[in-house]
Parts: sequence; structure tokens; C-alpha cells
Amino acid sequence: MTISDAERSQLIQAAQECRHFAYAPYSNYLVGAALLADDGQIYAAVNVENASYGLTVCAERNAVAKMVSQGGRQILAIAVCTINGGTPCGACRQVLSEFAGNVPVYLCTPQDHVQTTSLHALLPLHFAPSHLP
Ligand code: THU
Repeated sequence: MTISDAERSQLIQAAQECRHFAYAPYSNYLVGAALLADDGQIYAAVNVENASYGLTVCAERNAVAKMVSQGGRQILAIAVCTINGGTPCGACRQVLSEFAGNVPVYLCTPQDHVQTTSLHALLPLHFAPSHLP
């Protein structure tokens, strides 16, 4: 399913805007992630770090938790905003894949640079629910 240009712009803007709320005092690497779900809603979240570093949760996984907590189940498109167009980590790619097919992923910056890729390009041959007996 393709999304409209307006939806794409709104999604990227949501990732850019929420990025300011990132709690990243240790890395100072602010990440905003936004998911367009099939309920028409955009779910945006940020990375939340912790003094016990390993407890940090990435923006993408926080966005998935927010979507699921509010009833969303299927992701149609993903936007991630970082200072330098960074990509979702491996753990986040797997978690996103639980709720998404080969959806577009927009890697963006606050300066509106956007690189478009897709979830399957980022995570080919992902482990899927269908692999479970
Ligand atoms: N981070 C994310 O939020 N998403 C990713 O996919 C990669 C990394 C965060 C975790 C940590 O707060 C900071 O970026 C530096 O690793």
C-alpha cells in the first residue's frame, strides 16, 4: 500500500518534531521515530537513555510500544530523524518487522535531507512469526 505525499510529509515532520524531546544526556544522539499505522494515526517517540546505559530504549521501539498500546497493529511507513541520517539498529529493525511488511523507511535529518529505503532492504530474511511452529 502506497502512502500519499501529504502523509509522507506529515510522518517526516512528526519524527523531526518529536526528536527534540529525546532524553539522551549520555550519547547526546537525539532520535525521533514516527510510524504511520493503518488506523491513520501517526505514533511518534524518542530514545530514552538511562544512567544504567544498557537500559536505554531506542526511539523506534518506543514508537512501536506506543502504537501497540493505543491499538495500532500494522505499520504503513516509518520515519526516523537523526542529526546525520542514521539508520535503525538491528534490534529495532526486527521489532519493526513484527508489525510491518516491506514498508518505506524515510531516514531524515532536521534539515529536511531524506533518504528513502525500505524495511526489507534494511532487514532481509527477518525472523517472522511464520517461522514459529
Ligand atoms: N538509538 C535509537 O534511538 N535508535 C536506533 O535505532 C539506534 C540508536 C539511540 C540509542 C541511544 O540513545 C543513542 O541512539 C545512541 O546509540
